[in-house]
Amino acid sequence: MPPESLIGSTPTASFDPAALLAGRFTAAIRAAYPDLVGDADPLIAPNKNPKLGDFQCNAAMGLSKRVGKSPRDVAAALLAQVKLDDLCEPLGPNAVAGPGFINLTLKATAIAELTAAFDNGSLGIPKPANPQTVVVDLCGVNLAKEMHVGHLRSTIIGDAVARVFERLGWNVSRQNHLGDWGLPIAMVTGKLMREIDAGRADLSTLRLSDTDRLYKLAQAECKTDTPIGTVVKKYSAQVTPKLLAEWPDELAAVEKAEAALTEARKTLVKLQSKDTATMKVWQRVVDITIAACAENCKNLGAIVLPEHTAGESSYADELAGVVDDLLSRGIAEVNDGAVIVKLDKPEWGGIPEPCLIRKSDGGFLYATTDLAGIRRRVRKLGGSRLVYCVDARQSLHFAQVFAVCNRAGYSSPAAGGAPATMIHAAFGMVLGEDNRPFKTRSGENVKLADLITEATERSAAEIRKKNPEMAEGDIPAIAHAVGIAAIKYTDLSVERIKDYVFSFDRMVAFEGNTGPYLLYAYARTRSLARKATEAGHSMTSGALVLGEAAERALALAILRYPEALRQTADNAEPHRLCQFLYDLAGAYSSFYTNCPILQAPDEATRASRLRLCDLTSRVLADGLTCLGIPLVERM
Ligand code: ARG
Repeated sequence: MPPESLIGSTPTASFDPAALLAGRFTAAIRAAYPDLVGDADPLIAPNKNPKLGDFQCNAAMGLSKRVGKSPRDVAAALLAQVKLDDLCEPLGPNAVAGPGFINLTLKATAIAELTAAFDNGSLGIPKPANPQTVVVDLCGVNLAKEMHVGHLRSTIIGDAVARVFERLGWNVSRQNHLGDWGLPIAMVTGKLMREIDAGRADLSTLRLSDTDRLYKLAQAECKTDTPIGTVVKKYSAQVTPKLLAEWPDELAAVEKAEAALTEARKTLVKLQSKDTATMKVWQRVVDITIAACAENCKNLGAIVLPEHTAGESSYADELAGVVDDLLSRGIAEVNDGAVIVKLDKPEWGGIPEPCLIRKSDGGFLYATTDLAGIRRRVRKLGGSRLVYCVDARQSLHFAQVFAVCNRAGYSSPAAGGAPATMIHAAFGMVLGEDNRPFKTRSGENVKLADLITEATERSAAEIRKKNPEMAEGDIPAIAHAVGIAAIKYTDLSVERIKDYVFSFDRMVAFEGNTGPYLLYAYARTRSLARKATEAGHSMTSGALVLGEAAERALALAILRYPEALRQTADNAEPHRLCQFLYDLAGAYSSFYTNCPILQAPDEATRASRLRLCDLTSRVLADGLTCLGIPLVERM
């Protein structure tokens, strides 16, 4: 806990001077204008001109209209009330600038006091007394298919969001909503069974690359929506002997595809009725998919384990109940033989497209499964917040299922109480350097494993170039970490809704806003610590003295950490944490350049600077770990 004197006016313990100032000015606004109706944001911001102070309070302008006084008068009234003497340097005659900005310079001793209090083991993040539960939907791979670049973002972003919530003391449930049910799955399962019967496949030696190939073949075999197939479907009654004679091959192909589709539908029925022989083959494909996914995620340093799998199949038995429940309560209605939920009224969400929950042939949909999923996540897993890290192209889908759940109460605990907050943490696409969806030269999806290999190889080359003296044996492990840092940081550091261009050259660079740069900044703090320790200095015992501008800027950067984590969690936006870490690395770099550390002018200054280094190092490590980026001690 920070010292009483500094946190006295904030409701929650905070080490962040911006939050402390906000508390002080909120109180001052209330004291100066007791009759003010509604809240008033104290509008504390980092000072636009650091020469004028560390922060500024911009509340006077907005308040001026509400209280009928000039902004400068309001500023003066706030200054007459606000208690700042323990926190800020005395305000000079120029404290109020321009139309009514109040410039604030923190006392170096106050920053030091806050920083020392922050340095309490948990880096300014208290354990919540009553932790809530967040359910994070991540990865979402599909059965039988190899993981490719499309699954990268959901896995990386989802893992980072989960880690940040864990760090903040929440209970976190990761859910890998494996696409393991429905007609496409029946297609590949049936195909595989025929291959086994024909002696061309063997369950005991089957690998994901085999099922991936069979998946594509099965899709192609069942493809009835070819141009001619579509015509045949529409005009089936008019397929005359004459036509047959004219288009023999095309029509035969359509017939074959229709037959394959009928076969797949039969397999689906067998799956749905848990037919033993069919389930045995299906289960094997599930196991292979999950094992390969776990392996890929491990390689990527993302925590997605087999036990996090809650596939679509796990909801299969609940879907009929969901539809019946919604029908019986008049929330869903039958429309042309199908079942839909209308959402167009403003109180239902104002979404023009209704949510389809049962097809006219009786089949359930992706949306039906997600409705059951939300109900389970809230009522069984206890989620008060559900975060879905899924492609932005599914925005309508999530808007619809969230709206249906709110209408039906599925997003509220069974015993009543506030509905869970549901967030679609939507992300953009990964593009190639041609600005089109990232593909291999031959137009295939890029496999995740190949990406990691290439990033690692390129990192190794970079490391050899930078560190000719590094032992060859040390390189592979470091290169792997740097490669993973490069891939992940590129993905996490852009605002997630945006597309980004995948460029190995850029992401592996040791300079600029990249993963390797941040790892390098961390490795530098470690190398300094090794040198200091060898020379017999303590890294942790110094009293902080923040005389230099670069020291003070570094301490202020460090103190923003808890807020950066909170904002990252609240918005499910890891780029906020990335930006924080990049700023911190920048502040450290100017500190390192401007303030001699081991060669400091006196013992007390050296001890203080070493402690700042150590603190920076721990915050960098903590933040990188929250992003799922592995650390290296040297590079
Ligand atoms: N398997 C889905 C896909 O590939 C993603 C699953 C996302 N999660 C969910 N609860 N719908 O598009």
